[in-house]
Amino acid sequence: MKDVRQEYHAPGLTEADLLADPVEQARRWVDEAIDAGLPLANAMTLATVSGHGRPSSRVVLLKGIEDGGFVFFTHHDSRKGDDIAANPNVSFVMFWGPFDRQLIVNGRAEKLPAQQAREYFASRPRDSQLSAAISPQSRPTTREQLEADMANLAQQHPEGDPIPMPETWGGYRITPEEIQFWHGRPSRLHDRFRYLKQGTTWTRERLAP
Ligand SMILES: Cc1cc2nc3c(=O)[nH]c(=O)nc-3n(C[C@H](O)[C@H](O)[C@H](O)COP(=O)(O)O)c2cc1C
Repeated sequence: MKDVRQEYHAPGLTEADLLADPVEQARRWVDEAIDAGLPLANAMTLATVSGHGRPSSRVVLLKGIEDGGFVFFTHHDSRKGDDIAANPNVSFVMFWGPFDRQLIVNGRAEKLPAQQAREYFASRPRDSQLSAAISPQSRPTTREQLEADMANLAQQHPEGDPIPMPETWGGYRITPEEIQFWHGRPSRLHDRFRYLKQGTTWTRERLAP
């Protein structure tokens, strides 16, 4: 590993490239990654902290940027859901290697209204609905149990019959308090800008890489 070295050749990021609103700047970066067809361009590594102060992280998919916040869907009774219930402060990272870009967002997560989650759940492919509905996410199970539960639920709801969204499934919106844009540059002299929310306005500063 110590011999793996990559030089970054991107032209970099200047103040003039950046929008005043970092949420819109983040949307631009996510859209550019999606439009370029990068694999899992909307994958974000989400870190949460438990009520006992223990951090954990996992990948989830960013499903929208709405009302000034970043939306993802999951099980509310998962490890991350328990963490957020105890401590709404979260952080996530998105990294687009081919673009030499990293986005870091720190903020507070809150549950989306159940109706909004139901609308998104209804738009998912049937198999994704079934697996979400039967998964006791973050708890021990067996492959046999999962497959049996999925087959059982599929039998209860023939094709065309809507799968009800479990009460314990839903979305979160992360309202940002700090957003960082990192852009790789040659010689490790990378560009890095941090936005901080001060009341209702954002301030911006360059940070050393
Ligand atoms: C590419 C990728 C996308 C994922 N998307 C989601 C997602 O949108 N929501 C989700 O709950 N889990 C998603 N997962 C699974 C999570 O990484 C994780 O295993 C799960 O949410 C349980 O996490 P927890 O036990 O820390 O709460 C995804 C995993 C990968 C690798």
